[in-house]
Amino acid sequence: DIRSVRARQVLDSRGYPTIKVRLDLDDGRYAVAAAPAGASTGNHEAAELRDRDSHYAGRGVRLAVEAVDSEINDLLAGRTWDSLQDLDDAMRALDGTPQKLRLGANSMVAVSMAAARAFALVDDLSLHSWIRRSLDRADILPVPHFNVLNGGEHARNPLDFQEFMIAPVGAADLPEAIEWGAAVYHSLGGLLRQLGLSTGLGDEGGFAPDISSPEQALDLVVDAIKHAGLEAGPGGVAIALDPAANGFFHDDGYKVAGKYYSSRELIDYYAQLVTDYPIRSLEDPLAEGDFEAWPIITNTLGNAVQIVGDDVFVTDPDRVLKGAREHTANAVLIKPNQIGTVSETFETLRVADSCGFAAMVSHRSGETTDSFVADLAVGCGCGQLKSGAPARGERVAKYNRLLDIAASDPEMPYGPATPRNELK
Ligand code: PGA
Ligand code: ZN
Repeated sequence: DIRSVRARQVLDSRGYPTIKVRLDLDDGRYAVAAAPAGASTGNHEAAELRDRDSHYAGRGVRLAVEAVDSEINDLLAGRTWDSLQDLDDAMRALDGTPQKLRLGANSMVAVSMAAARAFALVDDLSLHSWIRRSLDRADILPVPHFNVLNGGEHARNPLDFQEFMIAPVGAADLPEAIEWGAAVYHSLGGLLRQLGLSTGLGDEGGFAPDISSPEQALDLVVDAIKHAGLEAGPGGVAIALDPAANGFFHDDGYKVAGKYYSSRELIDYYAQLVTDYPIRSLEDPLAEGDFEAWPIITNTLGNAVQIVGDDVFVTDPDRVLKGAREHTANAVLIKPNQIGTVSETFETLRVADSCGFAAMVSHRSGETTDSFVADLAVGCGCGQLKSGAPARGERVAKYNRLLDIAASDPEMPYGPATPRNELK
């Protein structure tokens, strides 16, 4: 039985408040979880509850804390819950709004994550094993997608594309992948210093040099891979981009490095980049509302690269299903706080699988040291996780958790070795 659910306001990696939940069981065991927060959010994400008062410039979450300590605690405490699904459904019914506006998606996701951990405790399983069993899948150590160069909403530089990631797809195992990620990160830092460019960091720990051209950023990343003594490409370290196109979409088109592109022109531009650089994945290449353009990029580039929907799907099973029918993308980014509960996140993973979509589990730009998404990435077997740079505590908490899981089971396969990771 759940004895109590209590919340507290803590800070995230940007110095903004977020909510941390502690769920106590009758037998004295307990589980904790903290909600992350995005900056470049999709319009249809579940709604965070923020105080909008004089504290923390209105970003406080004391109303969300209050919702957990009163209504959610009253609902959950003193009862036995048969499944996480039942618990999440009850919480959603209590909230009563489609976007989780009343109790707040930040409170609900933190409670749901803590509850998932409590179920794992009761079943005497690690979190990833409990998730794997819940989804009826096989554990796979995901390919880490390290965000080494930051722009867009995550940095104060003139670079319009948000994320330049490196993916050690050719590494033999997870420890080697982590070592390669760190090597390329340090090699990139050295390169920037040599060129007299800033080594200041963006929100996800990647460098944020004062450059605007995506080609220049890609050249730097490729050079950094080579200077680290590694191969740039599918046999070594591949590149993944999250342009996060909502951020540079304006009434008169997409503005990249000072130049305007129509949807068609932007797709041609991506096609050129995919030809010129070893890119394996393109996330949010178009704005979420650019409905006619998404199927065009999926149908033209979808065989060469993974087209990942983030803001366009917001981890919503219904949106993914619709997206699969309309060829919006061929992969979905998975962020539990975008939809607001862990069981709905599971549903999105199931729908993605049934549609032949790949999935990539993701952190948010505002994070804590909670490593829930590392276990989720392993247990769902999707083979890919993005959690920022291989530096800064809140980012490496996830990668270090993967190393712990890898050490606990030497037989567990690493992403690219498995057919599930093959692009559809
Ligand atoms: P966010 O960005 O966490 O700021 O929304 C991450 C992403 O766009 O993938
Ligand atoms: Zn994104």
